[in-house]
Order: sequence, then structure tokens, then C-alpha cells
Amino acid sequence: MVSSHLQLRWFPLCLVALSILWRSIEAQQVIAPPPAVHGTLTFNITNDHTIRVTINNPPINLFNNNLLDDMLSFLTSLVPSNRATPPPKVVIFSSSNPDFFMMHRDVQGIIPPLVPWKLQAINNYISITRYLQNITTTVFIAECNGRAFGAGNEVMVQMDMRFAGPNASVGFFEDGLGVFPGGGGQQFLLELVGKARTMEYVLGALQIDGPTGAEIGWFNRYYESADAMTRSIDDLAARISTFPNGTVNATKSGLSWRNPTLEVLEADIAEFIRLDAMPDRAPLEEMFLNVTKNETATPFEMNTPLNMPELYV
Ligand SMILES: *[C@@H]1O[C@H](CO)[C@@H](O)[C@H](O)[C@H]1NC(C)=O
Ligand SMILES: *[C@@H]1O[C@H](CO)[C@@H](O)[C@H](O)[C@H]1NC(C)=O
Ligand SMILES: *[C@@H]1O[C@H](CO)[C@@H](O)[C@H](O)[C@H]1NC(C)=O
Ligand SMILES: *[C@@H]1O[C@H](CO)[C@@H](O)[C@H](O)[C@H]1NC(C)=O
Ligand SMILES: *[C@@H]1O[C@H](CO)[C@@H](O)[C@H](O)[C@H]1NC(C)=O
Ligand SMILES: *[C@@H]1O[C@H](CO)[C@@H](O)[C@H](O)[C@H]1NC(C)=O
Ligand SMILES: *[C@@H]1O[C@H](CO)[C@@H](O)[C@H](O)[C@H]1NC(C)=O
Repeated sequence: MVSSHLQLRWFPLCLVALSILWRSIEAQQVIAPPPAVHGTLTFNITNDHTIRVTINNPPINLFNNNLLDDMLSFLTSLVPSNRATPPPKVVIFSSSNPDFFMMHRDVQGIIPPLVPWKLQAINNYISITRYLQNITTTVFIAECNGRAFGAGNEVMVQMDMRFAGPNASVGFFEDGLGVFPGGGGQQFLLELVGKARTMEYVLGALQIDGPTGAEIGWFNRYYESADAMTRSIDDLAARISTFPNGTVNATKSGLSWRNPTLEVLEADIAEFIRLDAMPDRAPLEEMFLNVTKNETATPFEMNTPLNMPELYV
């Protein structure tokens, strides 16, 4: 009797205490990650639970070792068990380069023989793609207003949402080098645009613009102005950030059954490595480095997928 009386008396106070505790937890702001060692990423907290990440790896935002390292460190810092504070609910990736969003792997890093540093780089790259999906407490949004070809596109399709601005252009061109998008790219594109279109775009090394991409599901939406896109993504991030925590994780985890299995993903990267080692692939890759003037902002790199047949004339 006495004890239930006590419980009743303390119950409202407990509720108040709990709600204060909950509010203080929710009010806790996301802490900015430490600066990226190679400076290819910069971070800005745009609301209490959102980090904007700006990619800048001149001249073309090549996925070279510097960008790989910075990206991997950043994503590792978002894993809840690596943090003392709550993870951000939303991370938005954009680029400060008006022409390039995120480009392909540095071909120097995949030319056989795959000596240990190259294999390590491939592993780091694969870890990045895995983290984008297995960090379920954060949604990753691509604000794409530039080219995303090869690995850049592969990473982008493994984020949770993609939006396109006027300068967006996407495509895979790996088949033109005798390999294929083996880091999850073709599997995740399949979910976005279907099997027939995936085969068309991957096998043909085609590239498409923002409006077409939005029409077929490669992008969530197309914006005619970069500012309108930024405002709209910030609004979305603010809405997501307003709602109690746990929702992001529940939705992202709950939908993850549609992801390709690890077995399928592992088979693809193993097949990539097998094809890459074929004797005619290194000469093709050398030719690629030559025509792109070592992967700089050449006319070839402005339309990498479209230009691949030039390697065969
Ligand atoms: C960071 O984001 C805020 C809010 O969107 C913006 O006002 C500010 O200019 C940004 N800072 C940098 C360095 O980009
Ligand atoms: C598109 O890229 C060009 C440079 O090629 C740049 O001048 C222009 O501002 C960019 N447009 C947008 C909307 O960012
Ligand atoms: C997520 O992926 C990373 C990189 O591959 C891996 O180290 C980690 O164990 C994975 N976490 C989960 C929960 O699967
Ligand atoms: C929600 O916030 C609490 C307190 O910071 C944290 O322990 C919990 O892991 C968070 N849950 C998710 C899904 O982020
Ligand atoms: C996220 O959701 C999964 C699946 O429901 C659950 O197993 C996991 O504990 C959740 N993580 C957090 C941090 O709440
Ligand atoms: C590299 O390209 C130049 C033309 O830009 C050509 O003359 C040269 O033969 C090429 N070298 C190789 C190794 O393909
Ligand atoms: C590309 O870089 C190599 C050194 O890695 C150099 O020998 C070659 O001349 C460069 N080619 C071009 C076209 O800049």
C-alpha cells in the first residue's frame, strides 16, 4: 500500500525528469569531426543534427588515396561505437568544384600488378561503400551538381538519396577499361533503375544528365538551380533532424533487406580483380592515363564514359 502510494506520488516527477533528460539528449549538438588529414573534405554543422561535407580534391575530385583516406576516416568517425556523442542524423555531400562532384578511382591504383598498397586502397574503397549502408544511424545525401563517373558514381548510388543540379552528369565507364563497376555500383544501380537500364548504362558506358537521371530514378529529383537544390536539401535535413532519434535507424535498417547481400558484393569485387589482371587491361589503363593527361580536367574527363570508344580507334 505504502509503496504504491509513494510510486504514484513520484510518478509525475519522474516523467518531468525523464522528459528533461530526453530533451537534453536530443538538444546535444553534433560535434564537428576533426579536420580531414589531406584536406579533401571540409565539414560544416548546418543544424543540430546535420553535417554538410564539401569535397575538394583538385583538379577533378579524383578518388585517389587522399580522398580515400579522408572519406574513410570521416565515415569511421560516424560509427556510433566510435563516438562519445550521438551521431549526426543527416550527412550531405556536395562539391566546391563546379564541374566535378566525385570522380573515378585513380587508375594508377588499379593498374596490375596489384602490389600491397593498391590492394589496401581497394580494401579502403570497399570499406567506404560498406559504411555508407551499414551506418544505419545516419542518412547520406548526395547533392550532385557536377560529374560523377566510375567510382564517384558508384559511391553516390550507395548513398541513401541523390539530388541533381544543372551540372550533374553520371555514368559508369569501367567496362571500357575491360573491368566493370565491381564495388557495389551495378548492384545498387539495379535497385534504382531496374535490370535492363542497368545493363544498358553499364555495358554501353553511357552517361546521362540530371533531368534524365531524375526521370528514371537514378536521382530522387532534378533542380534547375543549384541554390534551389541546396535550400530544398537543407529543408529536408532540418525536418529529419527535428524528429526524435531512433527513427533514422529504424527506417534505414528496416529498408536494408533490399540491399544486395555481402556474398554478392564480395563476388563482384573478386571478379573485378580477376578481370583487371587480364593481360590486355594494363595497356588499356596506361592509354587511359595518357588520353586523360594523368586524370586532369581534359576534354576526355569532361565526358569520360562517352569518350571511352576513343581508346579503341
Ligand atoms: C556553414 O553553414 C551555415 C548554415 O548553413 C552557413 O551559414 C555558413 O556559411 C557555412 N559555413 C561554411 C564555412 O561553409
Ligand atoms: C556549371 O559549371 C560551369 C563551369 O563549367 C560553371 O560556370 C557554372 O556556374 C556551373 N553551374 C552551376 C549551376 O553550378
Ligand atoms: C560496416 O562496414 C565496415 C567496413 O567494411 C566494417 O568494418 C564493419 O564491421 C561493418 N559493420 C557492420 C555492423 O556490419
Ligand atoms: C539516441 O540517442 C541516445 C542518447 O544519445 C543514444 O544512446 C542512442 O544510441 C541514440 N539512438 C540512435 C538510434 O541513434
Ligand atoms: C538500429 O536498428 C537495428 C534494427 O532494428 C537495431 O538492431 C539496432 O540496435 C539499432 N541501432 C541503434 C543504435 O539503435
Ligand atoms: C600518348 O598520347 C600521345 C598523344 O597525345 C601519343 O602521341 C602517344 O603515342 C601516346 N602514348 C602512349 C604510350 O599511348
Ligand atoms: C603522367 O605521369 C607520368 C608519371 O607518373 C609521366 O611520366 C607522364 O609524362 C605524365 N603524362 C602526361 C600526359 O602528363
